[in-house]
Amino acid sequence: MRKPLMAGNWKMNKTVSEAVSVVKALKGAVTGVLDVEILVCPAFTALYEVNNEIKGSNINLGAQNLFWEAKGAFTGEISTAMIRDAGCSYVIVGHSERRQYFGETDETVNKKTKAALAADITPIVCVGETLKEREDNATFSVIEKQVRNGLADITLQQASLTVIAYEPVWAIGTGKTATPDQAQEVHSFIRKIYAQMYKESAEKVRILYGGSVNPGNVSDLMKKSDIDGGLVGGASLEAESFTKLVKYSK
Ligand code: PGA
Repeated sequence: MRKPLMAGNWKMNKTVSEAVSVVKALKGAVTGVLDVEILVCPAFTALYEVNNEIKGSNINLGAQNLFWEAKGAFTGEISTAMIRDAGCSYVIVGHSERRQYFGETDETVNKKTKAALAADITPIVCVGETLKEREDNATFSVIEKQVRNGLADITLQQASLTVIAYEPVWAIGTGKTATPDQAQEVHSFIRKIYAQMYKESAEKVRILYGGSVNPGNVSDLMKKSDIDGGLVGGASLEAESFTKLVKYSK
């Protein structure tokens, strides 16, 4: 059985004290939740203090990016050892905003994915088509390329530990969610491709849906057999709405 994962991607929001105060409230509200894995991904600057606040709780910590080199002259970059040291067990890789604004490619996504796995940090590898690609009937070819190239050359064991997030670009931050059927169709396609690449790991890999997930639509999405959780932006920024997502009705 795949344990659902509800992940909050806070993007470029929250100072250290704001981040700590949200996580403090969240911690109290989700005490005792064991059937859903909970993850928050604050900005780099808040990781260390958020980690101090969630120690011993059921909330996990993730970063939003990493660089694949171990150390050296890479101004502005952050290594796996650094995010690990700050308490992260997860990292988001290849979010569409990074692909769109910061030049991420399937090749850099693959380097980051491999670096994270080598450091025992679980990568959440993001894939998703733009509106134009969907309208051009290119959704499946775009997703297949992103999955095959972004997740290439990892071991079978690493393959089952990896998390994939399907985030249609047209649904991110727009209030337009993919319907549960639209999402399920792509999720099952991703699992099929993954099975061709990594055999039985495909049954273990968790595939999250992301793009305007909110307390009102989460339950219907989570009912679908290949949707194993959510990667949530806007609705994860406040403890109250994120708690509703974590405690979605089953
Ligand atoms: P959203 O963002 O929930 O605000 O649409 C999701 C994401 O980008 O991960």
